[in-house]
Amino acid sequence: MKAKEIRIAYCSVDIGELDKDLQRLVEEAKRQTDSAYCPYSNFSVGAAVLLDNGVIVGGNNQENIAYPSGLCAERTAMFYANSQHPDHKPMAIAIAAKNGGQFLDKPICPCGGCRQALLEAELRYKSPIRVILYGTQDTLVIESIADMLPFAFVSFD
Ligand code: THU
Repeated sequence: MKAKEIRIAYCSVDIGELDKDLQRLVEEAKRQTDSAYCPYSNFSVGAAVLLDNGVIVGGNNQENIAYPSGLCAERTAMFYANSQHPDHKPMAIAIAAKNGGQFLDKPICPCGGCRQALLEAELRYKSPIRVILYGTQDTLVIESIADMLPFAFVSFD
């Protein structure tokens, strides 16, 4: 038997340390929480995707009375970006969440299903997508979706 290990690097940042485009991206993710449709959970999630032409596309969670039929903010934003701007590579995604109307102090991470869906965009555009997870006390930056999903399903070979 041979023990193996996977490590991932990530940073804790102050928003002011991010470049201007990424600061704008975080602001948009925060703003997107205001239009989440989440009557069942009251948990509003906003996401914003920065494209390689500087355009920012936002999305938020959209719930459904038949629970599994809803969609997370990250997939709403990325699917919208990919559907409306297929020729523009996503460079970064920011995520923010509010519980009972208050931004969380510690950030949330995308669920497993969203990580797999976001990874598809990295594979499709052959480029890492930076992830910014906003919290009022701590904001984290991860350099790629692949880092967040070790042992991802990526190939049939
Ligand atoms: N949710 C997201 O939109 N993104 C996440 O990363 C985690 C969870 C949504 C799904 C559901 O509408 C609500 O948050 C509570 O789980």
